Amino acid sequence: MIQINIHSDSDVKSLEIPNDIGINLMELLKAEAYETIEGTCGGMALCATCHVKVTDSIPSLSEPSNDELDMLETLPFIYYESRLACQIKLNEDIQQLNIEIIKN
Ligand code: FES
Repeated sequence: MIQINIHSDSDVKSLEIPNDIGINLMELLKAEAYETIEGTCGGMALCATCHVKVTDSIPSLSEPSNDELDMLETLPFIYYESRLACQIKLNEDIQQLNIEIIKN
């Protein structure tokens, strides 16, 4: 199981999902109806409408790819913890994620 704590406004939602669910974080957040997560490009790292902050993870996530970094740099502002949710695969490599939904 993967524990995911989602911070949005002053709210925190905690989910436990199977690690063989076969989706990425963007798809999960869309399914949970977070409206600011649009995922316009369908997870191709081409739109940055799935921008989130990953404030903590167990174990640490691998570094973003050059394609992910290039797309993040097109945003008006980014954070040290910024990631594209579509590039985070929810699989057995992750035990826990703490993320923050960024308001547009
Ligand atoms: S869904 Fe387009 S960059 Fe993530």
